Amino acid sequence: MTILSINNVSKSFGKHKVLDNVSFHIKEPEIVALVGPNGSGKSTLLNIIANILNSDSGTVEILGKSNKDISIYNNYSYMIDNTVLYEYLTGLDHLKFICETHRLSKESIRKAVELMEIKHFINKKVKDYSLGMKQQLLFTMSILNEPDFLVLDEPFNGLDPSTIIKVRNILLDFAKGGKTILLSSHNLSEVDQMTSHIVFVKDGKLIEEDISKYQEDVYYIKVKNAKSTLNTLKDFDFKIKSDEIVVSTIEYKLNEIIGKINEVDEIIDIRKEIKGAERRYEELYGD
Ligand SMILES: Nc1ncnc2c1ncn2[C@@H]1O[C@H](COP(=O)(O)OP(=O)(O)OP(=O)(O)O)[C@@H](O)[C@H]1O
Ligand SMILES: [Mg+2]
Repeated sequence: MTILSINNVSKSFGKHKVLDNVSFHIKEPEIVALVGPNGSGKSTLLNIIANILNSDSGTVEILGKSNKDISIYNNYSYMIDNTVLYEYLTGLDHLKFICETHRLSKESIRKAVELMEIKHFINKKVKDYSLGMKQQLLFTMSILNEPDFLVLDEPFNGLDPSTIIKVRNILLDFAKGGKTILLSSHNLSEVDQMTSHIVFVKDGKLIEEDISKYQEDVYYIKVKNAKSTLNTLKDFDFKIKSDEIVVSTIEYKLNEIIGKINEVDEIIDIRKEIKGAERRYEELYGD
């Protein structure tokens, strides 16, 4: 069954055409990232998928049914921005409300709260929450029904680094368990760590890419005395940051670099970072 099917969707606000006849399909369980500059139409598209916003034309199907069929919400969930929260209710009130409307057991609240580790603030009123706390509540609300298809609009926005890691690991676990995740994000290093399937939004169109081919890796090579390698590595594209040599290269060339360093210095550690999403973003939206 196709998980998401967007067929010829267009949307304009006044004369401004935000989405221009876009089609896009997710056929297999996976993580897909939606990326694009501010105002490019990501939230508009996600809101249309969730049937919060009507498109001017085109159709959307979720898990084989029209997005206007509310029975899809048994298996689907959408994390929208924090304007949907009620300031004078507590986090727990919000979770209970979803449980009642979705006919979920109280056990689902306990499970989700435990997974997200938010017990210490769910009895406070939302008006006293920080941005990150609101985001964590919204995320918890969106996973209560353990959906097979989860759509998230900027889930990492406002989260501190350790909460980002927690949310990332939860999403990666969901994906391993066969769930599908579509998320928009400006956090390209997070995107790189979660998926190589990216949909870029540009000029009202969607550009679907497997960015793994852009993933020339960045290696951080920690050595005893980085300066001693300056001369030996002069033929490579590298930078020195304190005691680390930073090189962008493809894997097979790395051995050559390691050999050169070993001639003059001692390697203590090698870390690898992949930066494909950022590279492709610059190509698409840079000057
Ligand atoms: N209700 C609305 N009325 C008029 N224009 C709107 C409305 N909602 C969005 N827009 C316009 O549509 C365009 C796309 O907005 P959208 O919120 O989808 O962008 P986005 O990609 O989510 O941006 P961001 O990265 O800042 O979240 C923007 O130019 C915005 O001004
Ligand atoms: Mg947005």
